[in-house]
Amino acid sequence: MKNGEVAVVVLAAGKGSRMKSATPKVLHAVAGRPLLGHVLDTACALKAARIAVVVGPRMDDVAAAAAPHTVAVQAAQRGTADAVLAARGALAGFARGTVLILYGDTPLVGADTLAAMLARRSRGADIVVLGFRPNDPAGYGRLIVEGGQTLARIVEHDGASAAERAVDLCNSGVMAVAAERLFEWLEKVGKDNAKGEFYLTDIVALARRDGADCAVVEAVADELLGVNSRADLARAEACWQNRYRARMMAQGVTLQDPGTVYFSHDTRIESDVTIGPNVVFGPGVSIERGSEIRAFSHLEGVQVGADVTVGPFARLRPGAVLESRARVGNFVEIKNAVLGPGAKASHLAYIGDCDVGAQANIGAGTITCNYDGYAKHRTVIGKGAFIGSNSALVAPVSVGDGAVVGAGSVITKDVAPDALAVGRGRQRERAGWAATFRAAHEDTQRQPKRGKE
Ligand code: UD1
Ligand code: CA
Repeated sequence: MKNGEVAVVVLAAGKGSRMKSATPKVLHAVAGRPLLGHVLDTACALKAARIAVVVGPRMDDVAAAAAPHTVAVQAAQRGTADAVLAARGALAGFARGTVLILYGDTPLVGADTLAAMLARRSRGADIVVLGFRPNDPAGYGRLIVEGGQTLARIVEHDGASAAERAVDLCNSGVMAVAAERLFEWLEKVGKDNAKGEFYLTDIVALARRDGADCAVVEAVADELLGVNSRADLARAEACWQNRYRARMMAQGVTLQDPGTVYFSHDTRIESDVTIGPNVVFGPGVSIERGSEIRAFSHLEGVQVGADVTVGPFARLRPGAVLESRARVGNFVEIKNAVLGPGAKASHLAYIGDCDVGAQANIGAGTITCNYDGYAKHRTVIGKGAFIGSNSALVAPVSVGDGAVVGAGSVITKDVAPDALAVGRGRQRERAGWAATFRAAHEDTQRQPKRGKE
C-alpha cells in the first residue's frame, strides 16, 4: 500500500434524537454490545495504527465506551466535515497513511469491505467512498460517477437535481482518504448548502479540482444499515442475528429453527453442537463440541463442556460451568456453580454458589439456600453424592463424596463421606384413622339439614 498505515476516525457526536432516549444513540446495543463497540471491533480487525472517536460535549458515557481509544470532542454539531476536523489533534503526526472515516451508528459494515476500500487506495485512489444501493435512496447523498469509474462529486439529497436524485448509488458515509491531503481539503469546505453545515462529502469535488483520483467501492445495502430509530435498531439486530446464525451453521453447529435462536456478540460454539428452537444466549457463553441445548433455554455467562445436555427450559446464569457429560434438565436454574463431569440435575432445582462433584445426582426440587439476606454462602457436594428430591441445603454446608441425603431433608450440618443424612419430620401412622374420620363425616351428612336455608 502506498500509504502503509490506517487511522480510523469514528463519528459519534450525534445525539440521535429519533431514538427518543436518555442514552446516546451509539450506546444502544445490537447483540448485547453497543453500536460503537461493533464499529470499534471492526476498526481493530483492520489493525489500525490509531483509532479516534469523535463525541459531542458532555458525552462522557460515550467516551468511556470508546476507551482505550482516543476521544476527540466536537464542540458543536456543525456537520460531518467539522466532525472529522475535530479529530485533527488525535491524528497529529499521522501524515502518510489512510484516514478511514466510519460512523458510530452504522454497526454492520464488515472488515472485508473496508479492506477492499484500502486495497483500492493502495492502487492509487486518493479518496475511496463506500457506495450502496438502498431500497429507498431518499435522504442519502448520491454518488455522481463519470465514465463508469471515477467519482466526480457527492450531492446531498436536499441539494440534488431531479436527474441526480434518479441516481440510486448512494453515499454510505464511509470514506478512505489520503492522510496527507485530508485536512487541506476539509479546511476548504464551506457551508453554503441546504442545512448550513460543513459537509464531508464536499471534499470529493474539492479533491477532483486538485486532480486527485476518487473512486467508489460498492457494498451490499445490509452492511450499511444506519441506526436512527428504534425500528432501525430492530432491523440491525435482525440482520446481525441472521448473519451470526449463518456463520454458526457454516462452522458445523446445528440450529433446528435458526430464526428463533438469539446469539450474543461473543457466543462461541464448537462444531457438532445442536441448538433447539427458542434458545437465547446472553453475553459470555461458550459451548464445546457434541453438546445439545434443547428448546427454550436461556444461557448467560456460562461455560458448557463437551457432550453436555441442557434443557429444555433450563436457565443457566453467570458463573455456571458444566463439565463434560453433565446434564441439566427442565426448570433448573444454575448460577455461579460448577457441575463436575457427568453430574446431573434433571428437574426443578436451584443450584447457586455451589460445587457439584463428578457423577453426583441432584434430585428434583433441590434448593441450595445460598443467601441469608446479607451474604452469599457456598455449598459443596462431593463426587458421586446423591441428593434426594426436595432437599434444602442451607449454605455454608458440604455433603461428602458418595454421601446420600434423604428426600425432603433440610441439611444444615456437613455430611460425612458415604453417610446417609436425613433431616425431616419423622413419619407417624395411626391405624384406621382415615376410615373413622370418613365414617363420622358421612354420618353427619345423612342427618336432615337444620338452621337457616
Ligand atoms: C450523511 C452524508 C450522506 C450519506 C449519509 C449516510 C454528509 C454531509 N452526508 O448524511 O451523504 O448518504 O450520511 O448515512 O456527510 N456527525 C457528527 N458531527 C456532526 C454531524 C454528524 O459527529 O456535526 C455524525 C453523526 O453522529 C452521524 C454521522 O456523523 O453518525 C452522519 O451524520 P448525519 O447528520 O446523520 O448525516 P446525514 O445527513 O445522514
Ligand atoms: Ca444519518
